Amino acid sequence: MGIKLGMAVVTGASSGIGAVYADRLAKRGYDVLLVARDVARLEELADKIRTETGRLAEVFQADLTKTADVLRLETRIAADTNINMVINNAGASVSKPITEVSADQIDSLIQLNITALTRLSAAAIKNFLNKKSGTLINISSVLALAPELMGGVYSASKAYVLNFTQALDKQYANQGIKIQVVLPGMTRTEIWDRSGLGINYLPQEQVMEAGDMVDAALVGLDNGEVVTIPTLSEIAGWINLDQARLALGPNLSRALPAQRYRK
Ligand SMILES: NC(=O)c1ccc[n+]([C@@H]2O[C@H](COP(=O)([O-])OP(=O)(O)OC[C@H]3O[C@@H](n4cnc5c(N)ncnc54)[C@H](OP(=O)(O)O)[C@@H]3O)[C@@H](O)[C@H]2O)c1
Repeated sequence: MGIKLGMAVVTGASSGIGAVYADRLAKRGYDVLLVARDVARLEELADKIRTETGRLAEVFQADLTKTADVLRLETRIAADTNINMVINNAGASVSKPITEVSADQIDSLIQLNITALTRLSAAAIKNFLNKKSGTLINISSVLALAPELMGGVYSASKAYVLNFTQALDKQYANQGIKIQVVLPGMTRTEIWDRSGLGINYLPQEQVMEAGDMVDAALVGLDNGEVVTIPTLSEIAGWINLDQARLALGPNLSRALPAQRYRK
């Protein structure tokens, strides 16, 4: 008998990157808890996973812009000792400048991409700390590093995910918890049509298939990476950026302003 891997929670499992994660993790031997709003698509994926892998696949309908639904899921994640992995993948994008986006759209994007992800990460960490093991994966975007593109709200939400997940790794990696943040580049999923910018408008030679993206991210996880950028051919690019950031550290808090700001 193999090692019992327990259950992986995948938010946004009804399509795109999340559906691929659910498939791959079930094939690795995890039972899966599939979270999204579209229950018919989740049931269809759950059936396919059960048939193809023999794993348990449970459907959990939730709108993660709604506090009550986030509360139900975070309660489950914090309390269910069978849960050994959480993937905060559900996310949405807007492709317009902030002046053309409604206040409700801004609010929903922040609720989903930031608030729900933060609360569900906290629930996962609480669960995993109790047993000194578990894996948390948060899906950011290369736009976390590119505020010039796509209007700001989405890229800023993904910069939050990068910063937040790096902070969690710093605090909890030495307590048996594996933490990874994934920064996909343009990936062929429904998010482009949903955001109003059709996938066909993208330079196709720069668009990765969701299966390739997730398989690469899982290699990064297996290799113990904290930050995985599947498109980046030279990892030195990321390491140099991170080291330049760290080098700023000793100069970021001082009793007096820098000389150039003094009258
Ligand atoms: N595709 C890219 O180019 C790309 C690049 C970088 C990062 N990402 C990130 O990758 C993640 C997955 O996106 P994707 O590209 O796979 O897009 P997608 O195919 O549109 O999938 C988004 C998933 O999130 C779920 N979702 C959306 N709103 C939700 C809500 N209010 N409550 C619960 N679930 C909700 C959707 O399911 P329901 O509609 O059924 O709820 C769907 O399962 C996102 O975080 C995205 O920002 C994507």
